[in-house]
Formats: sequence, C-alpha cells, structure tokens
Amino acid sequence: MHLSYSALSTRYIPAVVLLALVLCASLVLAAPKPPEGPIAIKPPAGAVLKKSVVQFPHAKHGELDCTVCHHTLASQPKTYTCSAPACHDLANPTDKTAKKSMAYFRNAYHAPAATSCNGCHKARKTEGKKAGPTDCKGCHP
Ligand code: HEC
Ligand code: HEC
Ligand code: HEC
Repeated sequence: MHLSYSALSTRYIPAVVLLALVLCASLVLAAPKPPEGPIAIKPPAGAVLKKSVVQFPHAKHGELDCTVCHHTLASQPKTYTCSAPACHDLANPTDKTAKKSMAYFRNAYHAPAATSCNGCHKARKTEGKKAGPTDCKGCHP
C-alpha cells in the first residue's frame, strides 16, 4: 500500500491532539503547590524598606486563576517569585522613568493593574466584590 504524505499526516492528527492534551495536563499537574501559610514577600536585594515586609496569605487567594498573578508562567514555567531576576527586581530607582517602571518592585504591588495586590483589591472593591485590604496598614502592619 502506498500512502500519500497528506493521508499519512491526517492519520496522525488524533495522536498529535492527544499528545498535546497530555503535555498541557502535565504542565498543570507539575505546578508546585503554594504553601498553606502566609508568604513573606521578599524584596529585591539591596532594597531599604520604609514599611514592614508584607505577609501574603496565599490560601486566601485560592479561587483565583494562577496566571492572573503568576502572569509569566507561560513563558517562564518555574518562576513564582515576583522579584526574580529580570522581573520586578529593581530595588532603588534613580530617575523618574525607572521610578514609574514595573521593574521597580514597589509598583508591582500597588500599580492600578489586575496583577498587583492593591490594583486588584481596589478594582474588586469598586465592583462590590470580596477583596483584600486597600489601606496601607492592612498590608504593612
Ligand atoms: C492573587 C495572586 C496569586 C494567585 C491567584 C496565585 N498566586 Fe501563587 N503566589 C503569589 C505571590 C504574591 C507569591 C509570592 C511571590 C514572592 O515570594 O515573590 C506566590 C508564590 C507561589 C509559589 C511559591 C511559594 C514559595 O514558597 O515560594 C507557588 C509554588 C505558587 N505561588 C503557586 C501558585 C499556584 C499553583 C496558583 C494557582 C492555583 C497560584 N500560585 C495562584 C500570588 C498568587
Ligand atoms: C487578582 C486579585 C488579587 C490580587 C492580585 C491580590 N489579591 Fe489579596 N485578595 C483578593 C481577594 C478576592 C481577597 C478576599 C479573599 C476572601 O475574603 O476570601 C483578598 C484578600 C487579601 C487579604 C486579606 C486576607 C484575610 O485574612 O481576610 C490580604 C492580607 C491580601 N489579600 C493581601 C494581598 C497581597 C499582599 C497581594 C499581593 C502580593 C494580594 N493580596 C494580591 C484578591 C487579590
Ligand atoms: C494590598 C497590599 C498592599 C497595600 C494596601 C499597600 N501595600 Fe505597600 N507594598 C505591598 C507589598 C506586597 C510590597 C512589597 C514589600 C515586600 O517586599 O515585603 C509593598 C511595598 C511598599 C513600599 C516599598 C518598600 C518599602 O517598605 O519602602 C512602600 C514605600 C509601600 N509599599 C508603601 C505603601 C503605602 C504608603 C501604602 C498605602 C497608601 C501601601 N504601601 C499599601 C503591598 C501593599
């Protein structure tokens, strides 16, 4: 029997689809479990803090999609830390542009973005949904 190239590739489509599904599932299953207790958010090296280190209660955020906060998981499947290298790792901005950049770790937690702590809390509060604190003391006791 002589199979044409296109007939051959069509025959393999179900197998390819299955393989893709298995790969997707293994990515989800491979996601490490977040800790039950609060995580002390680590500032980038060299940061001098004016406020207290923030304790993040991961378990209280369990109903949300992982990729809302861990927004680089697709491209960096092992990065779960906000201040990882080349992420929100700028400790001490020296000019206006740097101060406003998302590399400056402070912005990652307060910017009006769905991914930031206070950005999400504020937006949800405005929408009348369940949310976390939006006052300084609520996060920096
Ligand atoms: C509301 C935001 C948010 C959501 C949603 C979220 N995480 Fe996290 N997660 C964080 C933050 C913030 C940290 C601490 C980051 C840091 O230390 O810089 C973290 C840390 C982690 C860590 C590392 C824990 C450690 O000990 O360092 C893992 C693993 C993790 N998350 C997995 C997940 C998984 C899996 C999901 C989805 C089921 C998820 N997260 C959903 C915000 C979130
Ligand atoms: C995408 C939205 C979202 C992001 C991002 C987010 N939160 Fe929340 N947070 C929530 C929601 C929703 C609740 C309310 C959960 C509840 O009451 O069950 C909450 C609750 C909290 C609480 C109160 C927990 C309690 O005991 O009642 C704290 C503290 C908190 N968040 C801190 C943080 C910090 C710190 C970050 C950033 C590292 C953060 N959150 C990022 C949505 C978010
Ligand atoms: C929803 C939580 C949340 C709220 C509300 C919040 N912050 Fe933060 N803030 C954080 C997180 C998380 C960090 C990173 C701290 C760390 O690395 O432990 C941070 C960092 C900072 C930093 C830079 C680090 C330092 O200590 O110098 C400053 C300054 C700061 N916050 C000021 C404020 C002020 C002022 C308010 C009130 C207007 C406020 N924050 C409200 C979560 C919050």
